[in-house]
Amino acid sequence: MSTPYVLVLYYSRHGGTRALAQHIARGVEQAGIEARLRTVPPVSTTCEAVDPAIPEEGALYCTPEELANCAGLAMGSPTRFGNMAAPLKYFLDGTSSLWVSGALIDKPACVFTSSTSLHGGQETTLLSMMLPLIHHGMVIAGLPYSEKGLHTTTGGGSPYGASLVSGETRRMPDATELELCRAQGKRLGQLALALMNTQR
Ligand SMILES: Cc1cc2nc3c(=O)[nH]c(=O)nc-3n(C[C@H](O)[C@H](O)[C@H](O)COP(=O)(O)O)c2cc1C
Repeated sequence: MSTPYVLVLYYSRHGGTRALAQHIARGVEQAGIEARLRTVPPVSTTCEAVDPAIPEEGALYCTPEELANCAGLAMGSPTRFGNMAAPLKYFLDGTSSLWVSGALIDKPACVFTSSTSLHGGQETTLLSMMLPLIHHGMVIAGLPYSEKGLHTTTGGGSPYGASLVSGETRRMPDATELELCRAQGKRLGQLALALMNTQR
């Protein structure tokens, strides 16, 4: 059996969600457990389009086994019309065998997102990203208000999960948004370690 790890799984087109993922991974490792960053390939309306097995840059593509064997999951997506992006949904729609085997039951999970506008659907995206994870039997963790950044943020960050408001300039996360990512990652790492021995 491999050493325990928390999977930080994301899709990102312009790098905003990827930046959040990297800082969530740092938080996870502060808790004393390995963070494994993975992404999913884009989907195409052209059925013949095939992506290389290894992406040109950034994290590797996630395999079903990596999802099955994680001790916890942080899942991130850009906000698309108030919902998660199709590539991540497509990946999740291929996880029926994990649902059948119960591979994710009792494992902790959290979600994060990036959107252009402040009121452009981050909360609906975060909440709807939780639904398939609940179907998988995962234990959902948000961000508690003991995190000071939740009280002071002028951009992203919510009790439902870390986030970035990238704006029209596609800015990268500010100090508060990053602090909330690390806090969320650390909390997830701690929960993964605490729940590891209770998993079936
Ligand atoms: C098809 C599509 C739909 C989008 N829908 C929304 C939306 O509902 N609200 C919003 O604020 N931004 C929306 N955006 C903008 C992205 O959420 C935003 O650019 C995000 O920061 C991209 O994240 P990334 O840098 O990880 O790719 C949309 C973008 C695309 C391409």
